[in-house]
Formats: sequence, C-alpha cells, structure tokens
Amino acid sequence: MNIDGTPWRTIGLEEGGRSVWVIDQTLLPHRFATRSLTSLEQAAEAIRTMVVRGAPLIGVTGAYGLMLALQADPSDGALQAAFEQLLSTRPTAVNLRWALERVRERVVPLPPEQRAAAAQQEAGLIADEDVAMCEAIGEHGLAIFQQLAAVRPAERRHGPFNVLTHCNAGWLATVDWGTALAPIYKAHRAGMPIHVWVDETRPRNQGASLTAFELGREGVPHTVIVDNAGGHLMQHGQVDAVIVGSDRTTATGDVCNKIGTYLKALAAHDNGVPFYVALPASTIDWTIDDGVAGIPIEARSAEEVTHIQGRGDAGGISAVQLTPDGSASFNPAFDVTPARLVTGLITERGVAPASAAGLGALYGR
Ligand code: MRU
Repeated sequence: MNIDGTPWRTIGLEEGGRSVWVIDQTLLPHRFATRSLTSLEQAAEAIRTMVVRGAPLIGVTGAYGLMLALQADPSDGALQAAFEQLLSTRPTAVNLRWALERVRERVVPLPPEQRAAAAQQEAGLIADEDVAMCEAIGEHGLAIFQQLAAVRPAERRHGPFNVLTHCNAGWLATVDWGTALAPIYKAHRAGMPIHVWVDETRPRNQGASLTAFELGREGVPHTVIVDNAGGHLMQHGQVDAVIVGSDRTTATGDVCNKIGTYLKALAAHDNGVPFYVALPASTIDWTIDDGVAGIPIEARSAEEVTHIQGRGDAGGISAVQLTPDGSASFNPAFDVTPARLVTGLITERGVAPASAAGLGALYGR
C-alpha cells in the first residue's frame, strides 16, 4: 500500500539477506520509521513487543527470524531452540506456528550449510503468498459488500456503505493489503462509496493508531469511535456490515480475534447486522474444534491497561497513567467469537459458512 505515494510492504530483506527491515508499529501513527532486525533475539523481541503485530505479519517475521538464527548457527540444536524461542513470543496467532513449521520442514532435510539460504527462500515465499491471499480476500469481500449494498433499505441505499471494524487487520497486520481491510481498499479503489467506523481497540488502540493511519493514507473516509459505541450505532441503522480479521480460526469456524470482537458479534447478531471475518488459510487451526476451550489466550502486561500512549503537545510520544495506584488490572488480548455469530468467513478461496462443512468444502478437508 502507499505511504505518501511510495508503495510499501511491512517487511523485507536488506544487506543481501543478512538483515530484515520492518516498520516500527509502536511509533505509529505519529512517526513512520523502519527498524533493522539482525539476529534471532531481535526478531523475537520485535514480535513480543509488537514492533510487528497482526497474525500474518507475526508469521512472516517468525520465518525470517529462523533465517537469521540459521545464519548464525545452522545446527539441529540451534534450529530447535530458535523455533521454540520464536513460538513462545505470542501464543494466540496460529500463523506463527504455521510459518515456523513450514520453514523447519523445508530446512531439516538439508545439510547445515544450505539451511539459511533455504529458510530465506521459504520465508520469501510465505510473504509473497500472504500478499496474494490478502488480495484475493479483498476481491471476495468486495463482492460481498456489493451484494449487501444493493439490498440495503431504500432510505440508506444512496449513502456510503458503512462498515465497522475492530483492531487492525489492514496491510500493517499482514505483508500487504490486509485481511479485513482488503475488501475496503478494493471497494474504495473501485469507486464504491464506503465509510469505516474504526473501533479504537483498547488497550493498545490498534484501531485508533494503525487502522485510522492506514485508511487516512489511502483516502478512505473513516471515523474513530470508542469501543463501546458500536452497539449503539448498530441499533440506529448506521452499520451495514462488520468485518474483522482473525488470529486463529478453528476447523469448526470459531474465530479468535482481538479482545472485544465477541461483543461486536453479539451486538451485530442482536441487530441483524452481517458479521464477516476475513482470514487467509494460514490462520486456520485444523487441530481445534472448540475455540473457547481450545485456543490459548495471550495475557499481556497490566501496564497496557493502566497506561495509555500518545503524542503530547510538544510532539513527543509518551505514556500517561490512567488508573489509581494500587488498582489491579487484567489484560486478555483476544477473545473467541463462536461460529454461530459469524455470517461468513471470507478467505482467499472464497466465502464459506463458519462451520466444519463450510471450511471443509473450501479446503477439501
Ligand atoms: O495483538 P495484535 O495487534 O497482533 O492483534 C491483531 C489482531 O487481532 C488482528 O485482527 C488479527 O491479527 C488479524 S490481522 C490480519
């Protein structure tokens, strides 16, 4: 996607593959800067501290992290230690495990001296495939938007198509295009009048900081709202569809995504608003049937709840404390939306009902 007219991806190689550059997402929207990762430790730290985040991008960064590890030590022992170190950085997004396993399977049969180059090639393939999958999700999602727009009540048919999204499932969360935002970009570029309600997404505010940044750079009309406003807007006919991403989707269509997604799905269900989830195949965990019981939910630091980061009047980025000294806080980073609340899953292969039969038919399983 474009930043000031220049096309960007979120991750790439530099110095002949000895280093990986990423966009430092902890500085957005106030500063746009890249950061270089030159070791396994730096790659793991970038994922853990959310310099990079979003399920697909976490996976690609993990794959490149294995490449950096193998450049330093291509032995079996080092490969397994690096695999485990990277896997432990963020437990919920299954793309990380998927990408790490894919690189490991590629390099294990090779002699050590060939492993780093093979890992580089595999990570590059994963990145390119992610771009293609996200663009295809955009096309399938655009078709859904067009169908929904055409059947809106007569009084709303002439205004913009109003979409609500939660967290950031845009190009910053992937390598390019995004998942939930890809159909929005496709619609905007196709000339479809569209407006996006952007949930701020406490506690880390990925909506207010990242989604709003992305949409603004692409010129997509949008309005940032507090997380609690969505139900009210749906009650008043101001949301035509909800679309979110996924960090892990079960074989039965349960969707694990940023904390607060479940509440939006409940409100959408109560108000008859279509609730779609956009995801690439790399986000499906075929080993789990019950998302609530089976998906590990990352608990992040209490400080993300007690403090909030922003730009002060003098231009510096800093954090301020919101809560009284001594109050406990708890910070589960994701929740699970049961399949029954999901209108459809928009994948790179097309749209499926959120069910074992729906996903099975799409992926031949
Ligand atoms: O904690 P984050 O910012 O990594 O969470 C991101 C999300 O929850 C996204 O919605 C999800 O990864 C899908 S991104 C295409």
